[in-house]
Amino acid sequence: MRHDLLHIRDLVKDVDGFLTNREGEALYKLASICRNGVIVEIGSWKGKSTIWLGKGAREAGAKTIYAIDHHVGSQEHQGEGSPVWTFKEFENNIRKAGLDDIVTPFVKTSVEARPLVKDPIDLLFIDGAHDYDSVKQDFRLWSPAVKNEGRVAFHDTPWPGVGRVVSEVLETGQFRRAYFSDTLFFLTKTDKANVLDKIRDRMMFHLSRSFYAVNASSRPKWVRTSQKNIIKMFRFMINPCPFVNKK
Ligand SMILES: C[S@@+](CC[C@H](N)C(=O)[O-])C[C@H]1O[C@@H](n2cnc3c(N)ncnc32)[C@H](O)[C@@H]1O
Repeated sequence: MRHDLLHIRDLVKDVDGFLTNREGEALYKLASICRNGVIVEIGSWKGKSTIWLGKGAREAGAKTIYAIDHHVGSQEHQGEGSPVWTFKEFENNIRKAGLDDIVTPFVKTSVEARPLVKDPIDLLFIDGAHDYDSVKQDFRLWSPAVKNEGRVAFHDTPWPGVGRVVSEVLETGQFRRAYFSDTLFFLTKTDKANVLDKIRDRMMFHLSRSFYAVNASSRPKWVRTSQKNIIKMFRFMINPCPFVNKK
């Protein structure tokens, strides 16, 4: 594995968050193809995903990462004793990672932050509240600002609300070249999607569902690994180079 990825793994290992290393690496690669671009993250928590994005952006010379979070947690984080407040830890983690010069935090809801970002977006990462209405709202508000050939990535797609929005996005014909890494699912914005793109993306979505089902099953490990390898082979056949910018 590349030295920089190992270094980031090490950097984020003690940062509390909800991202696997594979998902982090996919975010890193997506960020590292945003030449001079702007990245928007909705839902930063304590900065784990922001660090992966930030390190990729640094490599690409991207301008800014807008990290949007009200920092009081989503519904599933609240209501367990003391109130949630993640901003201090977020700030510390970003500073320790040496990214405070390119990460601009907005301690706001995604709705409040929307008018503050004027630039076209290269990469939109949606990982805020996971109920259907919130994910849909985040997508509706922010995706029109994503550039043609820019990416939209969703985290936690096995969550019913997230999966439903992704499934609807596939129907719009405004995205193509879908791909997934663990529970991260991402697509490229386009004005040229054709029927074949739609079929491929729908297949990718079904593959991702099968991947999660295999992961969650109680079959022996060797069976799960073999099944996941078969799924990965199909994933490669459908989209062999997900981290390449094509025009
Ligand atoms: C699943 S966590 C994000 C995890 C983070 N991306 C990571 O990898 O560690 C979801 C975050 O979304 C934030 N959130 C929930 N609803 C939001 C909203 N409407 N606007 C902004 N942030 C929101 C919560 O405060 C929480 O920190």
